[in-house]
Amino acid sequence: MCGIVGYSGKQQAVRILLEGLSALEYRGYDSAGVSVFTDHGLCTTKSAGRLAFLAERLGERPLPGFCGIGHTRWATHGEPSDRNAHPHGTERVSLVHNGIIENYAELKAMLSGKGYLFETQTDTEVAAKTVDYCYDGDPIAAIRKACGMMEGSYAFGVLFADHPGKVYGTRLNSPLLAAVGEGEGFLASDISAVLSYTKNYYALEHGEIVTIDADGKITVTDMEGCPIEKELLTAQWDVEQAQKNGFDHFMRKEIFEQPTALYNTVHPRIIGGVPDFSHDGIAPGFFKDITRIQMVACGTASYAGCIGKNIIEKLARVPAEVDIASEFRYRDPILDPTQLVVVISQSGETADTLAALRLAKKQGVKTLAIVNVAGSTIAREADIVLYTYAGPEIAVASTKAYSVQTGVLYLLAIRVALEKGRIGEEKAKELVSGLLDAIEKTNAALLTDEAAKAMAAIMKDVEDCFFIGRGADFALCREGSLKLKEISYIHSEAYEAGELKHGTISLITDGVPVIALATQTALLPKTISNIKETRARGAQVLLICKESDEIGEDVYDHIIRLPDLDDLFAPITGVIPLQLMAYHTAVARGCDVDKPRNLAKSVTVE
Ligand code: G6P
Repeated sequence: MCGIVGYSGKQQAVRILLEGLSALEYRGYDSAGVSVFTDHGLCTTKSAGRLAFLAERLGERPLPGFCGIGHTRWATHGEPSDRNAHPHGTERVSLVHNGIIENYAELKAMLSGKGYLFETQTDTEVAAKTVDYCYDGDPIAAIRKACGMMEGSYAFGVLFADHPGKVYGTRLNSPLLAAVGEGEGFLASDISAVLSYTKNYYALEHGEIVTIDADGKITVTDMEGCPIEKELLTAQWDVEQAQKNGFDHFMRKEIFEQPTALYNTVHPRIIGGVPDFSHDGIAPGFFKDITRIQMVACGTASYAGCIGKNIIEKLARVPAEVDIASEFRYRDPILDPTQLVVVISQSGETADTLAALRLAKKQGVKTLAIVNVAGSTIAREADIVLYTYAGPEIAVASTKAYSVQTGVLYLLAIRVALEKGRIGEEKAKELVSGLLDAIEKTNAALLTDEAAKAMAAIMKDVEDCFFIGRGADFALCREGSLKLKEISYIHSEAYEAGELKHGTISLITDGVPVIALATQTALLPKTISNIKETRARGAQVLLICKESDEIGEDVYDHIIRLPDLDDLFAPITGVIPLQLMAYHTAVARGCDVDKPRNLAKSVTVE
């Protein structure tokens, strides 16, 4: 979603702000803007659309100066337009904002009564004018007072016209950090914005206010203005990891990074041949008395959870459920302290997932987070964190983050099964070796690239299709279908293969593509019957199955064969041709693969 970058130092601010915003482009946005202290005072330039439009404007009318703030906006209140783009402000204040001010209407009414005029429908203009209203020459006091009046979620970057060279920031429920350079300082909503300058940063906590001076000095205070000693953190990610490195798209690069990401995530947690989370701070025996596992996530992370449910129930015989986070918190879930709530999130900042985590904690339930971004809010707030080591995932459509989430869920399932005495150590070792073998075989699964491209040549011209499968294959179908919809804009539905005939089969007519997942050998005869039902009605069947499963040529029109694996581990390789097919289809349709329309990488509003 929205991105914030701020800078104060010796370099031209506009260049650094644009570079930083460009690194945040992957989060999704629809307009952008910057404010800079120039010789003529505080100046602002904004533009709807891509950053290139803003850069063009700044090329025509440069804003020379060494301190400024920038923003990429993902519209919530008011359409994407030049006017609604951030920064917003007054003659005295310029402000950028991530999040939503929930009581903006009341504040707007109050400020209007005091003579403030509003030009936009945005909640951010209200935030900026609230800060202006509270300002009497002391920036920190103004921010403190204004924050006391605002409800909702926010990360702010603020400039005060009479304090040139200084960038201020604060946050509530939306990430923000201050990064330390040599003689320069940065404000950013995501470390990837400034990785080419520094890896050292302070993660701001709720209610802390940061000041970055012209010489790069960073001071953090609490809301009362008392200085706070912050721990200097170092980002583990390199700038190269956040670049395309010769690939046409980030998504393609990230698909091909899956073998390494899985290895990096799974391997360190195998000790003595069995899953062991003691380096993650989980003592042996932690899972012994767990009676139920409740997973909560959004989007792709929730489909990783569906694979998790399958394997946890199969191996550990512990009931496992997956809830969509935006539903979970409002359905009055039944929770008790013998359960474990597992939240799954690449970014660690998804608002609904965070709210679900907080709800679980409030009800006294143990919480475990599977998160990719170190130091993110979910990682900080969960009782226990199992980090995934996928490195930065830039493409909006998640691929490697999904795979590493499933990798952790396999380890978790085996560990829970072991601690609950469902399996012995020998069996656990055997399962771990099966998991490692599956990870190794993701390399071979990537060789389906050409076959997936051939399927994409068919898919590119359709407007509707179906994914069908049984058991774990159905969970894969949901992810495959989401991937295709997200980036190629083709409507698709995922169906349990056996459920199709209870209604939806009426939509299967001549030529409708059915992508059939049949990696579960135990269910193969049943799945084949369901595939044949669709073929009999004219479906064009694109089948994905294992290398040596015998399947008659009358079952499919096109086929992709995956390396042989035990059914239990087949989802690890099974997702790869689905990702590749979605990718090639989107490319063939000329879609913006890495930044699909309307979508955001990290959804920090409800
Ligand atoms: C957004 C993204 C999805 C992602 C979901 C959950 O909707 O577009 O790709 O799966 O958020 O994100 P998270 O960071 O919590 O995994």
